[in-house]
Amino acid sequence: MGGSEQRSGAGSGAAAAPVLVEIALRVNGVERSLVVDTRMSLLDLLRERLGLTGAKKGCDHGQCGACTILLDGRRVNSCLALAVAHQGAEVVTVEGLAKAGELHELQRAFVAHDGFQCGYCTPGQLCSAVGMLGEVAAGWPSSVTPQLAAAGVQLTAEEIRERMSGNLCRCGAYGNIVAAIMEAAP
Ligand code: FES
Ligand code: FES
Repeated sequence: MGGSEQRSGAGSGAAAAPVLVEIALRVNGVERSLVVDTRMSLLDLLRERLGLTGAKKGCDHGQCGACTILLDGRRVNSCLALAVAHQGAEVVTVEGLAKAGELHELQRAFVAHDGFQCGYCTPGQLCSAVGMLGEVAAGWPSSVTPQLAAAGVQLTAEEIRERMSGNLCRCGAYGNIVAAIMEAAP
């Protein structure tokens, strides 16, 4: 009983006024400047303020990968990134992968291999795969890399599964996603 009294008492205080900050970002090659609430995630900024709805909100807790984007060249869960912490950042979303009307090679491979069904996870899978291939090219080992000190990483199906394990697919298209990434890998 005391607990419920405490809870109702705690909720009766006035909500703190939002703090607004102006930030500038480069999104898919375009300079963007806007005033945001300091509590806004990068995902909400992209979807709600810039109309870039490719990155999806699945869990909003960093657990599904549907919101994956490239931030200064590295893949991140944009639902966990506070927009104000990334002043001046270079952001690439799935909308920025195709160039001059040509699909990115990973997008073509996903189509060729049926690497999706409903497509909800696909923007995150694609951005994550772009970032992941960059990590492999840089020689970063994963927990299944047999020789951590070896020069270069052999991109096996096991490596891809491990490295893409942060991107869930509720349709279970994993086998085709791995095949698509294998084909598009340099
Ligand atoms: S929505 Fe960001 S990880 Fe699920
Ligand atoms: S294609 Fe439906 S969730 Fe992956």
